[in-house]
Amino acid sequence: MTLDPKIKELRELKEQATLGGGAERIARQHEKGRLTARERLELLLDKGSFRELDMFVTHRITDFGLADQLILGDGVVTGYGTIDGRLTFVYSQDFTVFGGSLSQAHAEKICKVMDLALKNGAPVVGLNDSGGARIQEGVVSLGGYADIFLRNTLASGVLPQISVILGPCAGGAVYSPAITDFIIMVKDSSYMFVTGPEVVKTVTHEDVTFETLGGALVHANKSGVAHFVAEGEEEAMFLSQKLLRFFPQNNLEDPPRRTASDDPLRMDAALDQLVPDNPNKPYDMRDILQRIVDDGDLLEVHEHFARNILIGFARLGGRTVGLVANQPMVLAGVLDIDASWKAARFVRFCDCFNIPIVVFEDVPGFMPGTAQEHGGIIRNGAKLLYALCEATVPKITVITRKAYGGAYCVMSSKHIRGDLNLAWPTAEIAVMGPEGAVNIIFRRQLMEAADSEAEKARLVAEYRAKFANPYVASSRGYIDDVIEPRETRPRLINALEMLQNKRDTNPPKKHGNIPL
Ligand code: HXC
Repeated sequence: MTLDPKIKELRELKEQATLGGGAERIARQHEKGRLTARERLELLLDKGSFRELDMFVTHRITDFGLADQLILGDGVVTGYGTIDGRLTFVYSQDFTVFGGSLSQAHAEKICKVMDLALKNGAPVVGLNDSGGARIQEGVVSLGGYADIFLRNTLASGVLPQISVILGPCAGGAVYSPAITDFIIMVKDSSYMFVTGPEVVKTVTHEDVTFETLGGALVHANKSGVAHFVAEGEEEAMFLSQKLLRFFPQNNLEDPPRRTASDDPLRMDAALDQLVPDNPNKPYDMRDILQRIVDDGDLLEVHEHFARNILIGFARLGGRTVGLVANQPMVLAGVLDIDASWKAARFVRFCDCFNIPIVVFEDVPGFMPGTAQEHGGIIRNGAKLLYALCEATVPKITVITRKAYGGAYCVMSSKHIRGDLNLAWPTAEIAVMGPEGAVNIIFRRQLMEAADSEAEKARLVAEYRAKFANPYVASSRGYIDDVIEPRETRPRLINALEMLQNKRDTNPPKKHGNIPL
């Protein structure tokens, strides 16, 4: 039977569209160690689930000889599919077509999937690989970017949005990923910057490469722009899937619950020994978290940035939780500018998407010094305070050791609507550490003492016995219970169950004014 000519034409057009910029440019993309836009979607979505939209869209420019260069799809593959059977909207920029640059038509395609995502309450994953604004289109392209930025903003807090950077992402184009919830970059293969090395050279006379200016490691370690660094594109897609498994589809749903194979009543006796007797000795908070969460599975966010605080997703009894934990291994777990905004943004994400927050606290206070004060530790520390005050999801705190000063208040204390505040017997809850406190309140006494060292040791021991424990706070009801460390997992799972129908609201307002 011969094929209907109309069907034949359709098939040929579709075949042509899937070739993007052609076999030669696809080969060049592969030579760079990069996949094509469609290959990436195949990795990201459930097999056979992808449905493409706007395959026949082309640009509308006739200048610069572009009338003869109409490529079906115009440099971006858009549509929807499923990840673990759950609806996900996607776009994937095709570098083989005008370097993945953004034309008006290209932007309209992205906006269409974003509008659909917003109406249907499902996440958006954007795969970015683009030379930026389509230079031949001028302001129309800029308008296209702004259309996307607006949608990213409107969808923020409604749908989870993930940006995966798989090649260049330059100029104003960076602001779409920047507005989304998570940015995943690929090591040695992706870069992001507002102005490229040539402009940098002209303006600041600095010699920089793409990698040192805006590579994955720079953004993961220094700027904090990238939340995750993947070793390769496959891992980047895997990370996107893993993240989405923790999240609800939108802000009106609860996160999906898994059947946990890890016993909810499991106790871990090793936890009783993990906090050293010497309060100045560090220990690894990651170890504690891994011993407590389901199957030790912790997906750390911003792992390489502000390592004095640890944030990430895990499950407890099958329920998604957002973990915020001071890390005594790095700078004694102190709160500084970077740690504060890192955790604040994470807390706000969790609150948007009904993810309970579990805080593990061992914090000696805020970082002192001119660098921090002049850099704005006041307004940055306030971000974390504000975020935790504002959050209405279940909030559980476990104080493992130090909870000193303002940091005590900030780290989801009872006073800022902590729902359940637990402490280990090793907790020390006070205005400041014993040494500092004695130096201030007994200054005169120490100056006058015959043996000031011995007197100081005596006063420190006295202060420690009186305040460096969880019982003063517990006697006030600021701590709901002091628990044995080994019990932490069952207690947390039980608390999450108790809080599963928690309802709390903030006063009606257009929006608050978080100290940005
Ligand atoms: C149109 C572009 C393009 C662009 C690349 N191409 N960028 N076409 N507009 N912005 C085309 C090239 O002409 C080439 O076409 C193909 O894409 C591949 O580009 P190459 O340069 O051969 O690739 P490569 O060597 O890998 O270099 C990639 C690159 C470079 C670093 C991204 O192409 C580049 O510097 N492009 C310009 C980047 C830029 O300045 N963009 C504007 C930023 S400002 P052929 O036909 O040869 O395959 C901006 C403002 C946004 O984006 C503001 C939003 C508010």
